[in-house]
Amino acid sequence: MKAKRAGSLLAVVVCALTLVGCSNAVSPGDTTHAAVDPAHATIGLLLPDSTNTRYESADRPAFEARIHAKCPGCTVAYQNASADAARQQQQAESMLAQGVAVLVLDAVDGQSAASIVNEATSKGVPVIAYDRIINSPDLSFFVSADNSEVGVLQAQALVDRLRELHAPAGSGILMVNGSPTDNNARLYKQGAHSVIDKSGYKVLAEYDTPDWAGSEAQSWVAGQITQFGSKIAGVYAANDGLAQGAIEALQAGGIQPVPPTTGQDAEIAAVQRILAGTQYMTVYKPIRKQAAIAADAALTIVDGGTPTGTSVTKAGGKSVPTVTLTPVSVTLKNVKRVVIDSGFHTVAQICTPAYASYCKEYGIT
Ligand code: BGC
Repeated sequence: MKAKRAGSLLAVVVCALTLVGCSNAVSPGDTTHAAVDPAHATIGLLLPDSTNTRYESADRPAFEARIHAKCPGCTVAYQNASADAARQQQQAESMLAQGVAVLVLDAVDGQSAASIVNEATSKGVPVIAYDRIINSPDLSFFVSADNSEVGVLQAQALVDRLRELHAPAGSGILMVNGSPTDNNARLYKQGAHSVIDKSGYKVLAEYDTPDWAGSEAQSWVAGQITQFGSKIAGVYAANDGLAQGAIEALQAGGIQPVPPTTGQDAEIAAVQRILAGTQYMTVYKPIRKQAAIAADAALTIVDGGTPTGTSVTKAGGKSVPTVTLTPVSVTLKNVKRVVIDSGFHTVAQICTPAYASYCKEYGIT
């Protein structure tokens, strides 16, 4: 890779000096890309929120580590949008002004972020959609998990558990979905409905939670308790942050025991709740692997190559090369193997004093 990088740097220098034979390599307005020194490129990483722990604790460090391992002279410019699409737009603009070679973008709003992609590509800066698809015809690459499958796994675990518990006729499920601006949330919901709708369990009510905010989920669930009380047999929560909000509302509303509640991300706090029996399941996704795949794709672009996928995703009417990773359903039965033995979290992170007795009980040492 080093030799190749030196080669493309040479090509840029030769082009600059002779101004001949370069017209195919550089498209109109492609000035930023042409000036990139691949061995010292800056790569922009834009992540969507920091209330969900994955971004700061897994995505960002894994992405930075991979870039630095493969390109020691490269720099990662990083910003987190705090669930604010307008702020993300500004962050992207300042990265473009700063001269990033590639943008890796996990969009707060998959529709409005098309204008970020448009602006970047018009400046010759390719964009990789990270984790969430963007409705733009100009994406270079997409890496994510199988998001419909995430919804299927969540709902299947919930329905199986309700059957095990012989949830009474007339009881049902509250659905706490993700943000309406995140296409993944739509896919989770679709996957979940494909299981719940034919399960015989009723959806009592459902809610698309703005900004994936746990606090919003909490107040919505609190309102549903007033309406449905003990009819709530289970809660479909699209991720661990929403699960936490829902569980807090159920506990505050005196619903004991807390009905089985789903989640996603295998956050430390969610794993602890699974051990303590207040959250039923979560979904593990290979986040660090996803970050490494995105980093590799970014470096391929910096080196003048084209990243390839194993499938395609339709976005803005075009096909984007895509890599899709497999999610895993996690309950008390496999939490040790999937989350701890895999190295995703350490025993020390999970087995803090408040959870030490559960760790001992379940052989997590
Ligand atoms: C991600 C989830 C995350 C959620 C909230 C989704 O797009 O795939 O892992 O929990 O956003 O940030």
